[in-house]
Amino acid sequence: MSDSRLRSAEAVTTRDFLAWKKAARKIVAITAYDALFGRLVDEAGVDCVLVGDSLNQVLCAEPSTLSATLDQMIYHARAVRRGVRRALLVVDMPFLSYQVNRDEALRNCGRVMKETGAQAVKLEGGAAIAETVRALVEIGIPVMGHVGLTPQSVHALGGYRVQGREDESARRLTADVEALERAGCFSVVLELVPGALAAAITAQRVVPTIGIGAGPGCDGQVLVLHDLLGLNDGFAPKFLKRYAAMADDVRRAVGRYAEEVRGGAYPDADHSF
Ligand code: KIV
Repeated sequence: MSDSRLRSAEAVTTRDFLAWKKAARKIVAITAYDALFGRLVDEAGVDCVLVGDSLNQVLCAEPSTLSATLDQMIYHARAVRRGVRRALLVVDMPFLSYQVNRDEALRNCGRVMKETGAQAVKLEGGAAIAETVRALVEIGIPVMGHVGLTPQSVHALGGYRVQGREDESARRLTADVEALERAGCFSVVLELVPGALAAAITAQRVVPTIGIGAGPGCDGQVLVLHDLLGLNDGFAPKFLKRYAAMADDVRRAVGRYAEEVRGGAYPDADHSF
């Protein structure tokens, strides 16, 4: 089915992000990795659905996002696309799909846009990838930036730690967002950044900021769905608020099912033909 038939009339576009920033209307983003959750979060009214490469850790229990592949991202994004009608769909470009050179970045990002029906891609990095971002924007591919804690650089950063705490690193981060804005990003994710720094960057810049562990001063927020639902219950960083305890629900429900099958209570007459 074509993208236009899947998208609803009031579908979110990248231009809305800028208008919402101007109107001080917060932007709500969340991850999804499949059609079912894509549909549910879209029906819940989020503005942006991100097919994050966090799926490599959340769904596949890999130690980092580094081993996620382009084919894996395309597979999941195609599924999410089938569930999402209103929200803007953004796909994470996996490690080494855009860093080698500009031609490869254009080809790989173009492939994601062609094969998934997404409206934008997300790339990690600041000034160092600004020229790649510019080239993508010039050929019509909207780009969401991502700075601060960039999980694909976890080994260079020495772990999953807050970025921009020292003056030099705060200056670099500020310059990175400016470079991404100039290159044409329609929004920038700020991950694990002190709240005061994120708020200052947000106030200085035209480009909308989407925070995760970056305090309330950003133009929007993003969380990993499985974390927010309490499904990924082994993960409990300070910034995360759990809005449900679904891991407990799953264990309880499946435990009851197992008990009833073993005890002969299921299936009963009501659930048999
Ligand atoms: O991969 C991901 O899910 C992300 C978000 C946490 C921003 O990049």
